[in-house]
Amino acid sequence: MENDIKEVLLTPEQITAIAKDIGTQISKDYKGKNLVLLCLLKGSICFMAELMKYVTIPCVIDFMAVSSYGSGTESSGRVNIVKDMSTPAENMDILIVEDIIDSGNTLSFMLQYFKAKNCASVEIATLLNKPSRRKKEVPVKYSGQEIDDLFVVGFGLDYAEYYRNLPYIGVLKESVYSDTEE
Ligand code: PRP
Ligand code: MN
Ligand code: MG
Repeated sequence: MENDIKEVLLTPEQITAIAKDIGTQISKDYKGKNLVLLCLLKGSICFMAELMKYVTIPCVIDFMAVSSYGSGTESSGRVNIVKDMSTPAENMDILIVEDIIDSGNTLSFMLQYFKAKNCASVEIATLLNKPSRRKKEVPVKYSGQEIDDLFVVGFGLDYAEYYRNLPYIGVLKESVYSDTEE
């Protein structure tokens, strides 16, 4: 598994520093609000777990599972809800926690989804951001690290469902996916 990684982009320590920064900011911005940290499974499982440790105000957590990538490295553009929230979103300040924003398809779908739910607010926090790949603009309130157009895995991010358990963000060697690329 480690052999498939070309380069480490973010070490566990760097990820923790980002989570601390964003968590501290969230704790200030959401004081007195009805904060819901909403983890978008599967990719944001690790960032959610890290970030919430540094949110020092009362909040609830919830999970949604949405998926658009299937087994390739390109977004299909179609976003499927695999699992919905288990708590009501009405009147809540929803903060969507994401691992990465690439085309923007997933989050633009999510923002659309919440439009009908009468939330007090809906915002986005992401660990990684690839603005060069954006197809749909989404407003990002908290952005950890901007990255170039590289296929990254680890710390929750997958290629064909694997590599999520790496404790860092790494660049996947092209040779791993070039066979299946169209
Ligand atoms: C990945 C990633 C983001 C999304 C970003 O999820 O975790 O949620 O793609 O890409 P976009 O901005 O082009 O939509 P994926 O659909 O692979 O599901 P997963 O989280 O279960 O891996
Ligand atoms: Mn995802
Ligand atoms: Mg994925």
